[in-house]
Amino acid sequence: MMYSEKVMDHFTNPRNVGEIENADGVGEIGNAKCGDIMKMYLKIDNGTITDAKFKTFGCGAAIATSSMATELIKGKSIDDALKLTNDAVVEALDGLPAVKIHCSVLAEQAVRSALSDYYTRQGIDPLPIVGEVHMPEE
Ligand code: FES
Repeated sequence: MMYSEKVMDHFTNPRNVGEIENADGVGEIGNAKCGDIMKMYLKIDNGTITDAKFKTFGCGAAIATSSMATELIKGKSIDDALKLTNDAVVEALDGLPAVKIHCSVLAEQAVRSALSDYYTRQGIDPLPIVGEVHMPEE
């Protein structure tokens, strides 16, 4: 199994690790099969994601994809963050082995879970905006 240099870089030197105190949205998602868990913290100001941090208890690819996902959404609007797909994360990392694609889905869903929480805290039903937040099954 081969990992790209970017994956190795984000695994050995992950960006945005940690928690945000007073986060505006906190999401958590886990994969029942592998047992990996990802927690995502967002700071949101006027519809813009001003900060994103994560804590991942999981495999190297889960750490690399959460690191990249936080980098991709920082400074973006909520709308753009909602468009972030796991494919975009994989592409930004120059690819992932097929058996590790589900790790990138975890990162995608962790972002959506945090955005759901953000809307819930605003008293807004997140379902029509964010959709169903689901755990990858593989
Ligand atoms: Fe489960 Fe990577 S093996 S997230």
